Amino acid sequence: MKIGVFGAGQLGRMLAQAGERLGMEFRFLDPATEISARGLGEHLCAAYEDVDALEQFVRGLDVVTYEFENVPCEPVRWVAERVPVHPAPEALRLAQDRLFEKNFFQKHGIPVPPYGAVFFKDEYRELLQTIGFPLVVKTRRYGYDGKGQRTVRNQEEAERAWKDLHGLPLLLEGHVPFERELSLLAVRGQGGECRFYPLVENHHRDGILRLSRAPAADVPAVLQSRAEEYARRLLEEVQYVGVLAIEFFQHGEELLANEMAPRVHNSGHWTIEGAETSQFENHLRAITGMELGSTAPKGTSAMVNLIGIKPDGRSSDGLPPAHWHDYGKSPRPGRKLGHVTLVREALEVLEEDLPSFLEIAETVL
Ligand SMILES: Nc1ncnc2c1ncn2[C@@H]1O[C@H](COP(=O)(O)OP(=O)(O)O)[C@@H](O)[C@H]1O
Ligand SMILES: [Mg+2]
Repeated sequence: MKIGVFGAGQLGRMLAQAGERLGMEFRFLDPATEISARGLGEHLCAAYEDVDALEQFVRGLDVVTYEFENVPCEPVRWVAERVPVHPAPEALRLAQDRLFEKNFFQKHGIPVPPYGAVFFKDEYRELLQTIGFPLVVKTRRYGYDGKGQRTVRNQEEAERAWKDLHGLPLLLEGHVPFERELSLLAVRGQGGECRFYPLVENHHRDGILRLSRAPAADVPAVLQSRAEEYARRLLEEVQYVGVLAIEFFQHGEELLANEMAPRVHNSGHWTIEGAETSQFENHLRAITGMELGSTAPKGTSAMVNLIGIKPDGRSSDGLPPAHWHDYGKSPRPGRKLGHVTLVREALEVLEEDLPSFLEIAETVL
């Protein structure tokens, strides 16, 4: 099987690492010259819209997927006319715009915070009134890792947010006083079979994921099944094939959907060592029409992101055992350079071992 991937960042890298073990080959299309997935397949270094490059990209491929949700839809649709693309380009279109995404959740009966879209100042003023403080102003497109959003608690902050973000289509949503953030990783195969990983508990700082714990502690069965039911509706609606991640805010036994990613997700990295089948392998199994693997956890896991911190050479300096992942990227502040995963049989042992890793990651929660 030869698989084409739009994007060659760390998600592409980990996909290819999982695929190698399944005997798959990879070709990446990514305009960046320095890519995380280097050495794991062919790299076509060209713009996503470059038709000559796209011609070359699709040649001899069995299936195409994407690891980056800001790939423009047009080239993805162009490719889909020639080679099967999973997940469906429609899922990509929905996930690229926070307004479409929220409408999609709402249409399928999935609770969301109060929200609305604005472009002009008078609409902004009006919606500030309707939703009320505190709220979050987000650009509808291209936001990630907390970029392109401002929390607004009063009129003065509202003016500042407008100054920073106006001129782009915006989404306003109520600030949710959540108890915690959870995410669900779901996978749907070509035959329609769905499998779900246990809910993951996520901790962000400045909008960037810092720590994921899986399975999330104290999840009542009703919460897990509610999350699965929501995911199933979305998967079936678009005849989705592959891994889908949904981020939720938990409030008691209620789940409010925040956003979805039509791809493998940072909050699923723990599955590489912490689950029977990793999210990467299950994504590949799904898109190539193979049987899905078990999503059962192997114990209890914690995944710590290394942001602006190089993961190299730390595994041997007297720390408890852990799985270090280096994305091979050049260091820059705020950049995800790698992650480390701890898997333990007992939660108490995990609690004991985790703090030294949070310290290395400079993560204060
Ligand atoms: N409406 C909200 N209420 C409370 N916190 C929010 C809200 N929206 C975003 N956040 C916080 O900011 C983080 C990043 O926002 P998100 O919408 O997921 O954007 P991104 O695409 O950058 O991940 C969330 O994980 C959450 O911690
Ligand atoms: Mg998010």
